[in-house]
Amino acid sequence: MKYRSAQWFGGREELAFQNRSALRAMGLNPDDYLGKPVIGLANSWSELNNCNGNLRDVADAVKRGVLLEGGLPLEFPTISLGEEFMKPSAMLYRNLMAMDVEETLRANPIDGVVLLCNCDKTTPAQLMAAASADLPAIQINGGPRAIGHWRGNSVGSGTDLWKYSDDRRAGRLSLEEWHEIEASYGCGVGACNTMGTASTMTSLSEALGMMLPGTASIPATDARRLQAATATGRRIVQLVREDLRPSRILTPKAFDNAIRTLLALGGSTNAIVHLIAMAGRRGIRLPLERFDELSKSTPFLVNLMPSGSHLMDAFDSAGGVSAVLAEIRSLLHLDEMTVCGRTLGENIARSRSFDRKVIVSAEQPLLSGGSLAVLKGNLAPNGAIIKASAASPHLLKHVGPALVFRDYEDMLNRIDGPDLPVTGDSVLVLQNAGPKGVPGFPEWGSIPVPSKLLQAGIADLVRISDSRMSGTAFGTVVLHVTPEAAVGGNLALVQDGDLIQLDVAGRSLELLVDATELERRRAAWKAPTSRHLRGYPKLYIDHVLQADEGCDFDFLRPESEAALEFIHPLVGRS
Ligand code: FES
Repeated sequence: MKYRSAQWFGGREELAFQNRSALRAMGLNPDDYLGKPVIGLANSWSELNNCNGNLRDVADAVKRGVLLEGGLPLEFPTISLGEEFMKPSAMLYRNLMAMDVEETLRANPIDGVVLLCNCDKTTPAQLMAAASADLPAIQINGGPRAIGHWRGNSVGSGTDLWKYSDDRRAGRLSLEEWHEIEASYGCGVGACNTMGTASTMTSLSEALGMMLPGTASIPATDARRLQAATATGRRIVQLVREDLRPSRILTPKAFDNAIRTLLALGGSTNAIVHLIAMAGRRGIRLPLERFDELSKSTPFLVNLMPSGSHLMDAFDSAGGVSAVLAEIRSLLHLDEMTVCGRTLGENIARSRSFDRKVIVSAEQPLLSGGSLAVLKGNLAPNGAIIKASAASPHLLKHVGPALVFRDYEDMLNRIDGPDLPVTGDSVLVLQNAGPKGVPGFPEWGSIPVPSKLLQAGIADLVRISDSRMSGTAFGTVVLHVTPEAAVGGNLALVQDGDLIQLDVAGRSLELLVDATELERRRAAWKAPTSRHLRGYPKLYIDHVLQADEGCDFDFLRPESEAALEFIHPLVGRS
């Protein structure tokens, strides 16, 4: 079999000479490797990203597997998207990372690729790239981080931060206690140990068939992770030999399987945006209605923070993603191909839950359907999202007066003011925090509960925005309102005191203001001006799609069959 890399190392002699000599310059004798698959390792390790901090070790183990199987591993760095440091949000750079990986694959002598991910956006960015490039690909993550403890209680990443932060703002925690929690919070490298966006996305990669079964939930420091990495390295060489490409794995049915898995996990709302974007790269449309349709018939089964009480180590012990898939087996397309070269059904044939407190049975679910719901109405004509499994049941049907913040800064300046005109019935509205509005679609949607309410013992109220929220957050929070305020969506027209009606069971979100008044406000509305007049943020504002379309760039989605083709470089003189 002639591999893609042969165009670089064979063919026109002066070119092949130059490329072989480049291998020699790195201490590699071409005689040892030529004719063997060249495997790229797209490594998102970075000291700017603590979540991906073990990926050098994982990469070394992947390389062992590639060499054992007779391939040549060549590792390359990519941009890394660390949720903690990157501001306003790593989401601003997801599409840039997808372009980085895709273009590195296009330009180089790579026959297949191992995608090393962990923190939230690194996983979908790599899969978007792999879907577009359609070279044999397999993903492996760094795994969830170790669990810290504070005064006898385990500390869940993100979820407990939000909880203790509310306690601090309500005056229930001293500064000393707050600092103690900080010291227990970051217990080593690895992803958040809750079912936040990172573990949701790696679980979905496994459910899609892009990761070896059992890999997603192995803790970052567990030696099984390095063994899985070596197995991943072996498998990518076989994938190249079998010419098994993402286009055979990332099918419409596989995305249905991933949506079902997301719903059974009670996973992150962010996954909706990422799945739409990933599917879009293969020309597959995932309308929000599809999520809602599958939501109604998919039981919610996983008792993990933020929707439940356990952490990722318990999920792994209980059987991980395979156990969840086994529970919803009857709802899945079991004939879908995976990177194993086996079908999903074959992969989970002997899987089951080993701990019913963590992964419950489909016969006795935590919710019979609807862990995530899609809302529509005049406030969100193209849709909005709520994570019902992490909301307060008494607020799922609610009418209340709006209290409007025109942007994030306005919210920060006023939210804890003693004069804030807020009650437990209020509906907090945050405008101009969407994809184009910031830009970057940050996780500002879980607007803090005002201190004066926390002090009065009110822990939740309805909050609505065109923003996202952390996968580790909780509360009655309506997100991804589309169209966003910055492009003139009705969210921009809401004023203090307007009544807003939320009805999750009825799937509706209505601004109870008559149409004539809304038209009057629309005529007076002025689009916010952006300070970003150049560079990547300007490119982002000009080309990012709305949340219901996955927030990919318009020019990265193939709009025709012909655009699905990955154009390889003309291999010529450098
Ligand atoms: Fe990186 Fe949660 S912040 S995985």
